[in-house]
Amino acid sequence: MNAQPPAASPLLTNCPEGLPVEAYLDPGWFAREQASIWRRHWVLVGHKSAFAEGRLELRRVGGVEVIVLRDPDGALRAFHNTCRHRGAALCTETRADFNGRLIRCPYHAWAYDISGRLVSTGFGTPTADFDKAAHGLFPVALTEWNGLVFLSLADDPPPFAPDLGLTALDNWPMDRLVIGHRAEKELACNWKIFWENYNECLHCPGIHPELVDLVPVYREGVMSEPERRDWQGGPAGPALKPGARSWTLDGAPCGAEFEGLSAEQRAAGHTFVTIYPSCFVVAHVDYVRVVTLTALAPERTRLSAEWLFLPETLAAPGFDLENVTGFAERVIAQDGEACELNQRGLHSPKFRAGRLMPQEFDIHRFHAWVLEALGERR
Ligand code: FES
Ligand SMILES: [Fe+2]
Repeated sequence: MNAQPPAASPLLTNCPEGLPVEAYLDPGWFAREQASIWRRHWVLVGHKSAFAEGRLELRRVGGVEVIVLRDPDGALRAFHNTCRHRGAALCTETRADFNGRLIRCPYHAWAYDISGRLVSTGFGTPTADFDKAAHGLFPVALTEWNGLVFLSLADDPPPFAPDLGLTALDNWPMDRLVIGHRAEKELACNWKIFWENYNECLHCPGIHPELVDLVPVYREGVMSEPERRDWQGGPAGPALKPGARSWTLDGAPCGAEFEGLSAEQRAAGHTFVTIYPSCFVVAHVDYVRVVTLTALAPERTRLSAEWLFLPETLAAPGFDLENVTGFAERVIAQDGEACELNQRGLHSPKFRAGRLMPQEFDIHRFHAWVLEALGERR
């Protein structure tokens, strides 16, 4: 009689429509997303170790080229890759004129200091009407979070807001981690197809045999205990199968477990932190994986994954990189294939929009996020 009512189930109470098919195919829709989502929200451009002092790094955010540099004080700065003289690119994949203090345009040698201030107009000799101070490089907002570097092209960037909050990874030694492995591939799908697949596990029993073996709840087509239809509340058990500690081929940790984690974080076996539109981080007890998306075209998405470890884990005798990377690489390949299958079927002129199942509540939330970012109402 006094039984605790189960906590609210996240399952949808109806089967709503998905986004209209144009959202996955139409260049006009894609262009609107580039402007309102990719050139406005915080986009991951790399791990901090990718930005060494004295080098210009070229990145593309929402189709716009940006240069990132580390100043002599160690701080990162970002600017549009555009000279204020006549608009030339300051840096290409193969050339950049930067000596750690001055960025020089390769065209007519206008030079800028590391704060973006115009300091020389080369052979051009401006008259009194030219205001040098008004012709600095266009700055780009930059924030670092747990060793990850994010840019926002907005003049008034939205708050940087990972779904689990800014403190989600505080117990992980993120600042000390280094990249031990990197993988990249291009998928023939829209970037939202990737996130939709990420946001449900109905496909898990069918396409992820190894993953559902490691994470038993996935075998039921859901991502966590509270999503089970018969869930009665109460604490969730360990997420990984008995004896397994991490996402590795044999389930064993790849090195010493991180010291600062809570008992819940260890029992969870994986902590997913999602930062739309460009990345998610999966923190395990022994390593961390960062997956980054770049929307290249309506039906083209680049996916890159980085595996981060403590330096001493990588250096430990017997460290088996393949045992760690092999597991997630298999899952990523399975998901990639599913995403491409999904995209391919959208080309039927009969298909207007999908229909979501109650377990696809996170897809529904994602769709709401996309529509809101585009300024559209359902
Ligand atoms: S366009 Fe850069 S110096 Fe002329
Ligand atoms: Fe999957």
